[in-house]
Amino acid sequence: MRYGRLLVPALAGVAVGGVSAASSPSPNLKQGKILFVAACGGCHTLKAAGTHGTKGPNLAEEPKSFGGIVEQITFGGEGMPALGQGLSRLQVANIAAYVVKATPTSGARDD
Ligand code: HEC
Repeated sequence: MRYGRLLVPALAGVAVGGVSAASSPSPNLKQGKILFVAACGGCHTLKAAGTHGTKGPNLAEEPKSFGGIVEQITFGGEGMPALGQGLSRLQVANIAAYVVKATPTSGARDD
């Protein structure tokens, strides 16, 4: 039952400390997926996440690096808005880790 209560503040960006997120050895992929569906799914298709957005490219179709995704989220570009301001660094890192994991061509780890 704790999870349900924790996810809501996490989505609101409240429960996230400024701790060195990007270097975290174990990103929160569960949170990353939930955030992806909420913040990215409207524009991006990603089969693993069950989203069907069509404004942006299908993220499963091209290899992505963690750093590249973090940059894309933070700064946007070419039709994609910069979303960094609405998300904490930890949330961005979790989303990026999730996308890498969910796109097999990215050389994602299997863990
Ligand atoms: C308002 C629509 C919109 C939202 C919301 C959005 N994107 Fe995008 N995204 C785009 C568009 C359009 C592009 C194509 C940009 C380009 O061609 O440079 C793009 C490009 C990308 C790329 C590069 C894809 C490639 O093949 O090079 C990545 C990675 C990406 N988005 C990830 C995300 C993530 C992660 C989120 C959520 C945090 C997100 N996007 C939210 C519209 C969106």
